[in-house]
Amino acid sequence: MLRQLLLLLSRSPAVKGLVTRVPVSSAIVTRYVPGEATEQAVAATTELAADGLQVTLDFLGEDTLDQAQAESTVQAYLELLEALGRAGLARHAEVSVKLSAVGQALPEVGERLSTDNARRICAAAHQLGTTVTLDMEDHTTTDRTLATLRELRRDYPETGAVLQAYLHRTEADCRDLAHEGSRVRLCKGAYNEPESVAFTDRHEVDRSYVRCLKVLMAGSGYPMVATHDPRMVKIAAALATRNGRMPGTYEFQMLYGIRAEEQQRLARAGEQVRVYLPYGDEWYGYLMRRLAERPANLTFFLRSLVSQ
Ligand code: FDA
Repeated sequence: MLRQLLLLLSRSPAVKGLVTRVPVSSAIVTRYVPGEATEQAVAATTELAADGLQVTLDFLGEDTLDQAQAESTVQAYLELLEALGRAGLARHAEVSVKLSAVGQALPEVGERLSTDNARRICAAAHQLGTTVTLDMEDHTTTDRTLATLRELRRDYPETGAVLQAYLHRTEADCRDLAHEGSRVRLCKGAYNEPESVAFTDRHEVDRSYVRCLKVLMAGSGYPMVATHDPRMVKIAAALATRNGRMPGTYEFQMLYGIRAEEQQRLARAGEQVRVYLPYGDEWYGYLMRRLAERPANLTFFLRSLVSQ
């Protein structure tokens, strides 16, 4: 119930207005978002890279209905990629892009515009020798996001995408994408989805996650195991061994600020580990999804809000 409420509020402009009075510097925000500016994102990437971790950076923003806003998001990614290049981080970092941040939700032109915008980001990443992964948003966008992925992969075959194990369709999507050269980031799923399209029971989501992992690990693509769940991490490692995969032919991924010690432990054990690092001032939707996953953080968060 609380999870659903938080996810509903994550899309409420009125609550967003209230909540974003919390400064980005407050502890609850910085736990998940290391800063607003490109320099802060690059500094955080440098630190993680020094610890032997890989990074994927997300310039925060989503659901834009404003073409100028979509363009400024593209510019932010281009600036970020340039800064990563200057800092010598191209081997350690890639970027993650939400298509709704680069115009997907705009009426009529959205699909074309977001694909073209994502292509510009892919071109800059490719030139730098790194990759782009498309985030996955709510289920109404899945088909369009996968269509964009197919189009981008024609020119930039290294482009990857997220699949969400809570959707009924995902095991089949994993089969379609478990081919040579394909990069799939498998997560459980973070949006408020109806029972008609998604498993809503936690255990059912976990079982689906394992079925999807089996498909991806047995396939010839590059599975990116995006979870903090110790059971899923263990099962993924066992499936990798069973399928004769060496570390580096798959990777683990976790969000910035969540189970940081486990990220380091896995990296020290020789696994490839990538941290998803969001930055920017549009942190509201992202933070609300993190609170929905961990309502225990809510009291802490409400305290920062009333102390403003
Ligand atoms: P689960 O929720 O069962 O958590 C397992 C354990 O992890 C918890 O017991 C707790 O210890 C810890 N934990 C989890 N969330 C926490 C939190 N917020 N704060 C503190 N501790 C927490 N989703 C989506 O719909 N589209 C996307 O594109 C992405 N992209 C993405 C990239 C990467 C790299 C990751 C790791 C995750 C995503 N997600 C996502 C989010 C994902 O769908 C999911 O909501 C979260 O990862 C939480 O699920 P877990 O698999 O970690 O398991």
